[in-house]
Amino acid sequence: MIKIAPSILAANFAKLGQEVKEVEEAGAELIHIDVMDGHFVPNITMGPIVVEALRPLTTLPLDVHLMIENPDSYIEQFAKAGADYISVHVEACRHLHRTIQLIRSYNIKPGVVLNPHTPIESIQHILEDVDFVLFMTVNPGFGGQKFISSVVPKIEALSRIIKERGLNIEIEIDGGINAETIVPCAKAGANIFVAGSAIYNQEDRATALQQIKAAGEA
Ligand code: DX5
Ligand code: ZN
Repeated sequence: MIKIAPSILAANFAKLGQEVKEVEEAGAELIHIDVMDGHFVPNITMGPIVVEALRPLTTLPLDVHLMIENPDSYIEQFAKAGADYISVHVEACRHLHRTIQLIRSYNIKPGVVLNPHTPIESIQHILEDVDFVLFMTVNPGFGGQKFISSVVPKIEALSRIIKERGLNIEIEIDGGINAETIVPCAKAGANIFVAGSAIYNQEDRATALQQIKAAGEA
């Protein structure tokens, strides 16, 4: 089953509650929240107070993507704010196993994120401990960038490993996803798709969301 996670980074922040409700009604499965600190990535976005504000407005799981240095220092705050999924970058974690256990200790689904150039060998020994792996298909920091197709073989390779080892891990893709780019990723075994500009920058968001989902399911 394909799940769509609209990224509110592309939404209108002056009416964020409404923007979240709109994609929930359009059939989104998760709400993707991009947290950037101006250090790990060259952009600053939002923190736990935004998660806290959105929590009562939707029943959808809040998928918090931490693009920050020292994620350990903020996990408790995001947990208390109401995050359901928290993902951390392998490139930002000095003690990844500890960070993943910390996320799980709050009963939150932990995920690990790989930048486009980061090999899957870097997560071989954490797969038993995570609920999902997020592959970046753009360099993190901004919405509206072009999909990097050289990530697709990494998705295929991880799907194979997951099958061989009989693991129960979801694969999420983030960056440049639209009704075309979702196709090779879904074929490669991914099932959760973040889409920012391909949903929020469209006049008819519901149709855009449903078209992306249908393309992934085809
Ligand atoms: C990029 C963020 C993405 C971004 C995706 O650093 O992690 O979630 O919002 O935006 P689009 O779908 O426009 O590439
Ligand atoms: Zn993201």
